[in-house]
Amino acid sequence: MAKDTLSVTDNRTGKSYELPIADGCIRAMDLRQIKTGTQDFGLMTYDPALLNTSICRSTITYIDGDKGVLMYRGYPIEQLAEKSTYLEVAYLLLNGELPGQKQYDEFANSVTTHTFVHENIKSFIEGFRYDAHPMGMLVATVAALSTFYPEAKLVGDRATRRAQMIRLIAKMPTIAAFSYRHSLGMPYVYPVNDLSFAGNFLAMVKRIAEVRYTPNKTLERALDTLFILHADHEQNCSTSAMRQVGSSRVDPYSAVAAATAALYGPLHGGANEAVLRMLKEIGSKDRIPEFIKKVKTGEGKLMGFGHRVYKSYDPRAKRVKQLADEVFEVTGKNPLLDIALELERIALSDDYFVSRKLYPNVDFYSGLIYQAMGFPVDMFPVLFAIPRTAGWLAQWEEMILDEEQKIARPRQIYMGSSKRDYVAMSERK
Ligand code: CMC
Repeated sequence: MAKDTLSVTDNRTGKSYELPIADGCIRAMDLRQIKTGTQDFGLMTYDPALLNTSICRSTITYIDGDKGVLMYRGYPIEQLAEKSTYLEVAYLLLNGELPGQKQYDEFANSVTTHTFVHENIKSFIEGFRYDAHPMGMLVATVAALSTFYPEAKLVGDRATRRAQMIRLIAKMPTIAAFSYRHSLGMPYVYPVNDLSFAGNFLAMVKRIAEVRYTPNKTLERALDTLFILHADHEQNCSTSAMRQVGSSRVDPYSAVAAATAALYGPLHGGANEAVLRMLKEIGSKDRIPEFIKKVKTGEGKLMGFGHRVYKSYDPRAKRVKQLADEVFEVTGKNPLLDIALELERIALSDDYFVSRKLYPNVDFYSGLIYQAMGFPVDMFPVLFAIPRTAGWLAQWEEMILDEEQKIARPRQIYMGSSKRDYVAMSERK
């Protein structure tokens, strides 16, 4: 009869073991009993970059990478992107269920009334050089928030935890907008409480001399949809950074700063920035074959293509591609779009990309939209960090409440020198 176990024979000793299988996994710790003798530490797994290791049980986000499925708390991303708002999705991620009207109003009101930052934050941002990358400013300023809320270290207390979660979701756009304005040498614009989450962000970024800035409805909705699409993506690099750093029980501002730093890299949230730079460098459609040739010989990557989990079209990318058309109706077409479309067409008919299952990911078209909306490329990863904050926090709280979790502490295989004695500098060869 079929059993949910794995039989393992250790050919070094001839001993056999039966390991339980649950949810398609064996427990790495069950391997520890497999030893060659009493001095043996026990068998471990070796999994650089955690390609085949589940680090948690989670109820937040589901991805089927082969079928191109993404769901938050069971709701398909396509439905949320079409029907929901970012704040409703943030509530869903944090609480597990869609809110009723009263719950939504309370949540939206809490976020809206926590968007202001301490005035010292402004002086702090003033300290950055005029050309500082806004993502660098965001990482540092979010970390600095922990000094304003010392109670945030009480991560075991639900009310304290939830207060910081609201503050983080609310203040990320403000810090992001202030960082942007700093890089332009423009005065900071304070939050406007009667605008939507995305509308308020646009106002803080764009307002110049208007008494009242009214965001364009299509652009406001497009940005909100992009926020929904970026809100969570299960155990990616920045989210696992959030969990790993948070597992030391540090305050959530410090953990979000670590997650934001992880997101900054060009292989993660910095990819949309890299896509734009790549499209600019290609410059015209006739230079695409030459570029593709270089990629295939290992000279650089086709940025915005490929994903560790998706081995088919990223469902977020599908929606972003449609959104681009809606936004370009208002802003005029981004001239780089034609290069992007042709690049996608050529790549998807080239065996190199097809055989490796490399499809456009969320970053391939999002940068074109951001650019058409007037954001400089440096702001692109910042625009990813703002909505991902809700996902990071949901994952962080799930980790804090998970009794199986402890401080993250991976193992290594030591490959260095065996014991040797210290040699005085004068005697070294
Ligand atoms: N262009 C050209 N070749 C690629 C690319 C690419 N974008 N991505 C993967 N490959 C090749 C890679 O060279 C390897 O080839 P081979 O088997 O001959 O050695 C094969 O495809 C498998 O790639 P991998 O590096 O083992 O895949 P990975 O799962 O480690 O990397 C990735 C995933 C997203 C880091 C990678 O695809 C990549 O660097 N893409 C470009 C950067 C990018 O767009 N990142 C955004 C990811 S989506 C947003 C987010 O969630 O952060």
